[in-house]
Amino acid sequence: MTDALTQLRAMQSADLPVHGGRTLAYVYDSGLPDIDRIGREAVAAYAGSNGLDPTAFPSLLRMETEVVGTAADLLDAPETVVGTVTSGGTESVLLAVQTARDSRPGIERPRMVLPATAHAAFHKAAHYFGVEPVLVPVGPDFRADPAAMAAAMDDRTVLVVASAPSYAHGVVDPVTAIAAAAAERGIRCHVDACIGGWVLPYAARLGRDVPAWTFAVEGVTSISVDLHKYAYAPKGTSILLHRTPELRRPQFFASAAWPGYTMLNSTMQSTKSGGPLAGAWAVMRSLGDAGYERLARDVFEAVDLIRAGIGKMPEIDVVSTPDSTLIALTTDGSCDPFTVCDEMAARGWYVQPQMSYAGSPATIHVSVSAATRPHVEELLEALGKAVAAAVATGPVAVDPGVAAFIAELDPLALSDDDFDGLLLAAGLIGAYGREGLALPQRMAEVNAMLDLATPAMREALLVAFLDRLTRPTRS
Ligand SMILES: Cc1ncc(COP(=O)(O)O)c(C=O)c1O
Repeated sequence: MTDALTQLRAMQSADLPVHGGRTLAYVYDSGLPDIDRIGREAVAAYAGSNGLDPTAFPSLLRMETEVVGTAADLLDAPETVVGTVTSGGTESVLLAVQTARDSRPGIERPRMVLPATAHAAFHKAAHYFGVEPVLVPVGPDFRADPAAMAAAMDDRTVLVVASAPSYAHGVVDPVTAIAAAAAERGIRCHVDACIGGWVLPYAARLGRDVPAWTFAVEGVTSISVDLHKYAYAPKGTSILLHRTPELRRPQFFASAAWPGYTMLNSTMQSTKSGGPLAGAWAVMRSLGDAGYERLARDVFEAVDLIRAGIGKMPEIDVVSTPDSTLIALTTDGSCDPFTVCDEMAARGWYVQPQMSYAGSPATIHVSVSAATRPHVEELLEALGKAVAAAVATGPVAVDPGVAAFIAELDPLALSDDDFDGLLLAAGLIGAYGREGLALPQRMAEVNAMLDLATPAMREALLVAFLDRLTRPTRS
């Protein structure tokens, strides 16, 4: 009988590779095997430790305060700054919104002002915490429009958000103007630097042109920065920083209203593995400031080379000049982005399809890591071939009748059987049970149809898909 670890390795071989610099979304790879090993060993060493009680596991408390201190230095924070290590960007965002809401208990129907490009984690926070999102259209370069943001702020606004950078387009919002408008009205301003937090400070140090976005900007009250992205730590860590302890206080939760231990939490999780924090601490200790600067140099060299290569491909272009390490590519109509994604996958590269939304065209998302630097030429060669193949196939043609049908679908009017039928027609589930669940090799047709659906329909269809995907395996 094969042992469990051998089985795991065999199962994992079907997943996207997390090393090698060819997976250009979901993973952030330093390309340094020793760093990965140190991170993994630290996670394993602390897998059973419980971050629930810092007095019981003081080494975790020490790691947390040191990690937050390093972040504070990097983000130009004042002496008063405080921070918490969370499980990821979404948890940092959720806590920023909950904290802002609970700091204004007198506001009955709280709102937050978001650029339309803010990460979906803010919509999740809106849903969880009953904070109405006020979505403000962005400018033609996909950067937030500070005047429009200011105009959207009112007496009910508890939070204003800017991204550094936005995930979908890789651009930094004009934080200085947005934070000033928020401060003038006494409203908190959160900068979502989940992506850029650990790489943009080094970009600035390397002499690149980066708009101001850190605590050096007056009016910025909190910042989220993920360690499992450009701090190249194992998955499961982000930091939420607040400018002062007073700003953070509503984030804490305590309950002595039961006969057990007094529950005292700074995050959404209560019991939490010490593994991710230990992994992040060990990676940060090992790389140090100089190590991160070297990795930033590598990743920005890769970004510049990729952009130069794309400049020679007439069929594709960046949607906006990227400020960071994320690139969004659009096509000129001779091919479609979804087919290019499939063609890249066929060549061993994962790039992520992004649907059109609110004036933003469908795009190809590329998150560049330091590990991609040595492979940029192969990447550009693959991209050139993928584009040529996509041009040869031509854009996915959806029958106009089907297109009209999809555009008019109302998720609220559909039954479970209707969803089964749609998922079957899209090739996302087979005719019967779990055996039929296998993603098609090529996703372009499915993505092109999803792109025609309303966002609400996309959500409903994908939720129905996830529901069927996650039915238990019974013996
Ligand atoms: C700007 C931004 N904010 C928040 C998040 C959510 O982070 P996570 O996936 O770690 O929960 C992401 C993830 O990509 C992001 O890019």
